[in-house]
Amino acid sequence: MSESPSQSQPNPVAPQLPCPSFVATDNPIGEKCDVLIVGLCDDAPLSATAAGLDQALGGVISRLIGQEKLSSDSGESMLIAGVGDEGSQLVLLIGLGEKSKLDREAAFTLTSTAVRSLVSKPHEKWVVALPECFDAVDHDAIVAGALYGLEGQSIYRTKSPIHVPATIAIASADTTAIDRGVILGDSINLARRLVNEPASVIYPASFAERATALATEVGLGCEVWDEQRLADENCRAILAVGAGSDKPPRLVILRHDGGPQGEPPIAIVGKGVTFDSGGLSIKPSDGMVDMKCDMGGAATVVGVMRALAKLGVKKNVIGFCGLAENMVSGSSYKLGDVIVTRSGKTIEILNTDAEGRVVLSDTLDVAVEHQPAAMVDLATLTGACMVALGNEVAGLMTNNQSACDAVIDAARGEGEPVWQLPMFELYNDKVKSKVADIKNIGEGRWGGAITAAKFLENFVGDVPWVHIDIAGPAFADSPKPHRDAGATGVMVRTLVRWIENQAG
Ligand code: BES
Ligand code: MN
Ligand code: ZN
Repeated sequence: MSESPSQSQPNPVAPQLPCPSFVATDNPIGEKCDVLIVGLCDDAPLSATAAGLDQALGGVISRLIGQEKLSSDSGESMLIAGVGDEGSQLVLLIGLGEKSKLDREAAFTLTSTAVRSLVSKPHEKWVVALPECFDAVDHDAIVAGALYGLEGQSIYRTKSPIHVPATIAIASADTTAIDRGVILGDSINLARRLVNEPASVIYPASFAERATALATEVGLGCEVWDEQRLADENCRAILAVGAGSDKPPRLVILRHDGGPQGEPPIAIVGKGVTFDSGGLSIKPSDGMVDMKCDMGGAATVVGVMRALAKLGVKKNVIGFCGLAENMVSGSSYKLGDVIVTRSGKTIEILNTDAEGRVVLSDTLDVAVEHQPAAMVDLATLTGACMVALGNEVAGLMTNNQSACDAVIDAARGEGEPVWQLPMFELYNDKVKSKVADIKNIGEGRWGGAITAAKFLENFVGDVPWVHIDIAGPAFADSPKPHRDAGATGVMVRTLVRWIENQAG
């Protein structure tokens, strides 16, 4: 098959933005910097830094508040002149809202919001005096949020609209919290970057190469199954989805052996459809335009595995990324095809655009073979889940309520919205096929998120399993104050916490 110009003459890959270096400081007001970031709460006296600064600036902060020219409403900000040479040139006052509501999610989001209001200008150094307003356990989220605000989708602008300062000094946080925040922030941003890269840059083999390089860098075990190995392993479902593409599929297995030897691992499984054209059941342009995001589940797995390795989490965890490109060609898999999956179960293909569950059927089967104590899969699986829950909430479906409760608990702790959908037995019939064991679509559009999960349930055996449909929250159409549009890195924080909770 002839190669497309984009393959024979690939673009240079987008450069990575510089990393700021994070340091600790005990003297936010006296630290020389371009911008000092200070929080203001609604219902509490000025924080130590805000009060000290107010004094140093001749009472301008309390005056502005008194005149109602300065608001402490959550996310509102104002830039004022700082104390000058002996401290900050500028001060960013950021409203934090009610002090009693300052949780971990607020720490992350409000710091990211503050950072995003500054990045359009070049600065050398910021001092972040937000930790004094938050619980010490959430100080890492401030650092992670700062990094989150520095990553965006404009990675191919010849002039980056994001200016990263060389140094970010964090006031009144210990270095353990800072180090942890850097790991979390960088890991979420890695997941986002993998998603934001176009499908001509991130395809199964190149995704696998990046995962391999990462594994070497952070000390994860890594195995890549190429098309030959996939064939040897009877992964016909993964191969079928990838058959229409010039870019062959891959399965990536990342290992973090942080727990006692022999302890059953936790498995995390990601849908890695590097581009979803729909295949022969082709999508209209409107529905295809963002389908580079269809490997968001696999990207999350990579981000989580990176964080676990760097944090040294004392748990055995294996990450599985099922990677294929769903394309249209003479070799595409077809409607009416029957695939004997790796598990032996047969599936009838009635819509080639319901490809994610097909890729996951084999990927889950490989994961189950490792006899995990619990398994989560993440997938940009169904538009139906977005119809049900909107585009900011992930859908959860499970065969084990206590496993699901543990994920819900972790998500709540991190402030990532999730909602459980039912898995009643009455749905089972809706994926039964007349010619094979199951078919890859339900009956009409009804309950589409659930029928997709019911399909997946066929491949998890009796492993306690939680399916997370991230079709809505993985990729954003429009920006918000705390993040750019594009990849969000959703569920990296939740899964790291879920696994850490099990590490005890
Ligand atoms: N990747 C899509 C789901 C999706 C849609 C993710 C929008 C993110 C944003 C998935 O492969 C798909 O096409 N699902 C179909 C299933 C249908 C054919 C049963 C859908 O949701 O329409
Ligand atoms: Mn699809
Ligand atoms: Zn898809």
